[in-house]
Amino acid sequence: CGIVGYIGTRDAYPIIIEGLKRLEYRGYDSAGIAIFDGTDLKVCKTKGKVSDLEARAENEITKFGNLGIGHTRWATHGVPNDVNSHPHLSNSGDLVIIHNGIIENYESLKKELMARGYTFKSDTDTEVLINLIEDVKKQENVKLGKAVQIALNQVHGAYAIAVFDKNKPEEVVVARLGSPLAVGVGEDEFFIASDASPFLEYTKNAIYLEDEEMAIIRFHKEIKVRKIKDDSIVDPYVQELQMNLEQIEKGGYDHFMLKEIHEQPKAITDTYRGRLLRNEAIIKMAGVEDNMKKFLNANRIIIVACGTSWHAGLVAEYIFEDLARIPVEVEYASEFRYRNPVITENDIVIAISQSGETADTLAAIKLAKSKGAFVFGVCNVVGSSIAREADAGAYTHAGPEIGVASTKAFTTQITILTLIALRLARAKGTISSSDFRHYLLELEMIPGKVEKALQADAHIKMIADIYKDSRNCLYLGRGYNFPVALEGALKLKEISYIHAEGYPAAEMKHGPIALIDENMPIVVIATKKGHYDKVVSNIQEIKARKGKIIAIVTEGDEQVRELADHVIEVPETMEALSPLITTIPLQLLSYHIAVLLGKNVDQPRNLAKSVTVE
Ligand code: G6P
Repeated sequence: CGIVGYIGTRDAYPIIIEGLKRLEYRGYDSAGIAIFDGTDLKVCKTKGKVSDLEARAENEITKFGNLGIGHTRWATHGVPNDVNSHPHLSNSGDLVIIHNGIIENYESLKKELMARGYTFKSDTDTEVLINLIEDVKKQENVKLGKAVQIALNQVHGAYAIAVFDKNKPEEVVVARLGSPLAVGVGEDEFFIASDASPFLEYTKNAIYLEDEEMAIIRFHKEIKVRKIKDDSIVDPYVQELQMNLEQIEKGGYDHFMLKEIHEQPKAITDTYRGRLLRNEAIIKMAGVEDNMKKFLNANRIIIVACGTSWHAGLVAEYIFEDLARIPVEVEYASEFRYRNPVITENDIVIAISQSGETADTLAAIKLAKSKGAFVFGVCNVVGSSIAREADAGAYTHAGPEIGVASTKAFTTQITILTLIALRLARAKGTISSSDFRHYLLELEMIPGKVEKALQADAHIKMIADIYKDSRNCLYLGRGYNFPVALEGALKLKEISYIHAEGYPAAEMKHGPIALIDENMPIVVIATKKGHYDKVVSNIQEIKARKGKIIAIVTEGDEQVRELADHVIEVPETMEALSPLITTIPLQLLSYHIAVLLGKNVDQPRNLAKSVTVE
């Protein structure tokens, strides 16, 4: 979910609506807004997107008032409908709340409140929380800030909340545990949001609350930050934001996803800039240098991640083992954290996360830390929870990724992980200095080759048109390109809702081959390096069953061209770097299929970009 709030001298409504649109990547099942118009509280909420909320608000509420909060939801408790949408009011109608997260013990709290006469309109945990706050406020006869604090100490779960009392419209109380919350500090105005994008054009100064912190924000006054548990006062650190507005706008592209696909040459360059120093033949990354001893003594590396980031982890497994000869395990964060994993102080855990907020990944690294492992974060969002929780790390410099289907985050994650593997290989002596130099040279040529791969766009669109009505699709690859096949399949299902599966090409004969007939498109990554001949044999096996073959091949390839129904050429590179190139046509293929089918590419149904619940 995404939350936005405003208190100051401007009208809150447009700031909140525009802010919610920027946060829709966090969920878009329903949306709502509460505005204090100077005399009373006006609430409007609806199932659907922020644009639906705007349409409804048109007739329902006044748009004037200098205080307000808004929410865009990714449903956890209760179906996405109008009633379950946020904001939620307390029984008296005085207090109003927006909440991102989950209150785990809401049922027992709800029972207690019901026994005291409270009633509930929705199925949400959030409505329980606001009534708990109201109950504490009345019972203990305390101010809102104190009531929020006492209530939160009774709650288990995760939250980022903003609350205000319509009888005290000069104050908003916010708090965070597990879900992100930023406060933009302007002149005589404050902004509240899940990330800084809603207030970028108003202020570059932001305070990121830490876990278990709350803040009381008063109009015309300073912001007061406290620890929720022990009430101690925290001196807030005001950070200057580096992001600019241009980075989060579409810049002439039809969709964010397409813009982000095309940004990859630059994103990859930005990610290795200052780290890959070819003239000196070195790779320099502070987070790795400072902890070199730990890396060199590590028994193994455990990579934890979810979704596309997990696929980047799989590519890294090949690179680390191949180049640096360090054993690697790649784990879904959600499985790892509940499996009672064997972790020792000699393990290094690398957590990969674009958003840096994925709840399962965050929990996995907390667990690893508690067992003494050294945790290294690879995140895209600067200052995110995972970035802060990790012992050390390296940022990808992909810039904001808005499209829900991850593209440039994936290739920049692979870039960073390749740099780390090469650095460690050099330190361990598992790579010769001439091979190392060759890699550096080749890495610097990747952005140009990605650019070239992007030129197949029109050809890929034509292929997309032929197969857009398929009900299933298989993606095959071997070695370094096996994870690319998984990622290609994920992209297609995420945005076009066509069932797709990624498989190691050779494993096909142990199951998926049964699905193959003349209606089945099969995307095969068959580039020259690696296991080319083996893949060619797999292609023969598909052809014998009349499957339709779309092959990703190296420029100039003749052999596969003979066999395949369609080929998409990509520039040649070293095998270990090939995922950075072979991924590109798969991204474009899924993009065009989804567009041709009329799907919402940037905001596919049921998904969210940043999943801050487990
Ligand atoms: C969500 C997104 C995916 C992403 C995954 C992990 O499911 O829709 O695109 O790969 O979360 O997110 P992270 O921010 O941790 O990389």
